[in-house]
Amino acid sequence: MIVVERLTVVFNPGTPDERAAIDGLSINVPRGQWISVIGSNGAGKTTLLNAIAGSVPTAAGRIVLDGVDRSGDPEYRRARIVGRVRQDPSAGTAPDMTVIDNMALASRKGPRRLLPAKPASLKRRLVERLAELGMGLENRTEENVSRLSGGQRQALALLMAAMTEPSVLLLDEHTAALDPRNADIVMALTRRFIRDYRLTALMVTHDMRRALADGDRLIMMHEGGIVADIAGEDKASATVEGLVRLFRDVRGEEYAEDRDLLS
Ligand SMILES: Nc1ncnc2c1ncn2[C@@H]1O[C@H](COP(=O)(O)OP(=O)(O)OP(=O)(O)O)[C@@H](O)[C@H]1O
Ligand SMILES: [Mg+2]
Repeated sequence: MIVVERLTVVFNPGTPDERAAIDGLSINVPRGQWISVIGSNGAGKTTLLNAIAGSVPTAAGRIVLDGVDRSGDPEYRRARIVGRVRQDPSAGTAPDMTVIDNMALASRKGPRRLLPAKPASLKRRLVERLAELGMGLENRTEENVSRLSGGQRQALALLMAAMTEPSVLLLDEHTAALDPRNADIVMALTRRFIRDYRLTALMVTHDMRRALADGDRLIMMHEGGIVADIAGEDKASATVEGLVRLFRDVRGEEYAEDRDLLS
């Protein structure tokens, strides 16, 4: 469960470059809900995720995760309960460590830590998890992660972020750097992990079809705030064209011909 209350994040405070990237934003995400987050470049999507993860300072507001006010907690402390996958496949794993050592590191964090009595049984369980990815990584456990493809790395990063059942899973355009086939594979894994582990998840995407097809709820951000919030039947009946119209309305007429929103 995530509760964000009147959150404000200001970059370069007190300088001519001062900018409120998040401006009094509030949202309540019940446990197990999956939200797609859309919005144009600079809308504040990544900053919102950073604020939840504790990697940017907040100027005002509260962030409550699973009933505990985490607003004052540094990032490393929140990392135990916040799983993250970013756009860059090299960001979520340690490239110079082996696949199995990356998994072992990830297994130690999170609310559901995997702590079997014997190291050998931990390894067996981790290899089982790797096999579930369906990418053959269970046969490459002693290879450095730097030798994996982008799609394999991103699948591994997702597994590492999700397997200890974090309170919150934050996905920031996590399939954007992948080719369509790998993006589909990683999305299928995303669906499986979120459902199997009943994770509370925020998924930023520029792909409106994906934002509509996946998740229980969709929010659109603009200038540091939420300008649309749809769920249930409204989401089920929403269309890409409708979202584009909404984008145009909130961004004003000068963007009326901006077709790259459909990408
Ligand atoms: N470290 C920073 N220092 C100064 N300004 C920043 C910083 N990070 C983000 N910003 C500014 O905050 C605003 C929101 O940025 P953010 O990265 O959250 O947007 P976004 O919605 O994720 O965009 P994109 O779709 O391009 O990823 C932008 O105006 C951006 O320039
Ligand atoms: Mg971003």
